[in-house]
Amino acid sequence: MIFALFGDVHSNFPALEAVVKEIKKISPDGIYFLGDAVGYGPWPKETLDQLKEIVTEGVLGNHDAGVVGKTDISDYYDAVRYVINWTTDTITNDQYEFLDMLKYIHVVDNPGNFLLSHGSPRMPERYDYIFGCKSIRKLYEVEPYLKEVNFVGHSHYMNLFAMTGSEKAVEIDISTQEIEIDYGCPVVCVCGSVGQPRDGDPRAGFVTFDTDKKVIKFHRVEYDIEKTVNKVKELRLPRSFGERLRNGY
Ligand SMILES: [Fe+2]
Repeated sequence: MIFALFGDVHSNFPALEAVVKEIKKISPDGIYFLGDAVGYGPWPKETLDQLKEIVTEGVLGNHDAGVVGKTDISDYYDAVRYVINWTTDTITNDQYEFLDMLKYIHVVDNPGNFLLSHGSPRMPERYDYIFGCKSIRKLYEVEPYLKEVNFVGHSHYMNLFAMTGSEKAVEIDISTQEIEIDYGCPVVCVCGSVGQPRDGDPRAGFVTFDTDKKVIKFHRVEYDIEKTVNKVKELRLPRSFGERLRNGY
């Protein structure tokens, strides 16, 4: 079976539309959402309606949790808090409910044997970032709860790590974009961002997982970035949340 996974849409609806169009061409057996539907961007309503329609299961991101009052955002910087509060005021009750029902972690046992969380699955409600092998080594504390493949978002980067045993971790080169995960140990796949990439590539990102071939594929899709930049300006949201999209940082 083939599953599509993505997260960190951040109310960037043109980016989501482009990703959904690509995913529909693949015609996967399920679509999984890794959190942060909202925050930063100008189209929370459209984004949430689209996600409600297409997502098989998903998890709650930190911006989503901020919108539904499930995480303390007092130490987030002002512009981020402003958009989170604006989003809470903007969305409908049904859209709020959709976010409010998302859990911190979701496990898919069969077919698949994989797990979803927004940040590190070690304590998912804390939203720790997975940035490098150091953060992967901490996952040995919860090794019995991990799955063969552990999909996360939050960093807005794309990476693949293998937990090679004895508290060791290695980062796997993903430059070929298509990786066979025959390592005989748990792997952690960081799935990039649909609506706010930060790895220097402005294209929207998502991944697919072929459970029969054990292949993870990293995808990037172009979309109309200027449309989002202009909408951010029009709504007088913090401009940098639009303008940074041009460079993918
Ligand atoms: Fe995010």
